Amino acid sequence: MAKKITISAELEELSWEELSISERELVVEAKKISQDAYAPYSNFQVGASILMKSGIVLKSSNQENVSFPVGVCAERLLLGFAGANHPNDPVLQMAIVAKKIGQEKWATVSPCGLCRQTISETEMRFGQAIELLILLPNGNVIKVPGIQALLPFKFEDLNG
Ligand code: THU
Repeated sequence: MAKKITISAELEELSWEELSISERELVVEAKKISQDAYAPYSNFQVGASILMKSGIVLKSSNQENVSFPVGVCAERLLLGFAGANHPNDPVLQMAIVAKKIGQEKWATVSPCGLCRQTISETEMRFGQAIELLILLPNGNVIKVPGIQALLPFKFEDLNG
């Protein structure tokens, strides 16, 4: 008989008050940088910010291209920059926010598949789970303990 394998994940929904001061700061930085996103094709402005082990915070927005697949998500651009410029500094947390231009409310943005794989690589690189803070339209934040929760049974080993 086939052996069943169950995959499950636990996420938390926290109110603004339940976030620590530094978590709130991370979300605020993501909100600020999202306003400068270059998103003339989707009008969907994404902001991502990361807290590094050293304590520094880095940020990015999404950067689109008239040749659509060339555009880069905020999360991937940010982790690429962090890896290139701070190669020895583990990433601890990432806040992600998004807003459709012209709308009052924040949208929900859960990282796309390519970004999940990129987050996974950064986790492997440093042997350190990256906690995600995803802003919801109601102002609460979904806390994801690490990419395993969003990308189970992932590709992570060339040697099988
Ligand atoms: N986008 C991100 O920056 N991050 C995500 O996790 C999902 C999508 C961007 C890509 C594109 O510029 C726009 O949002 C619409 O898909």
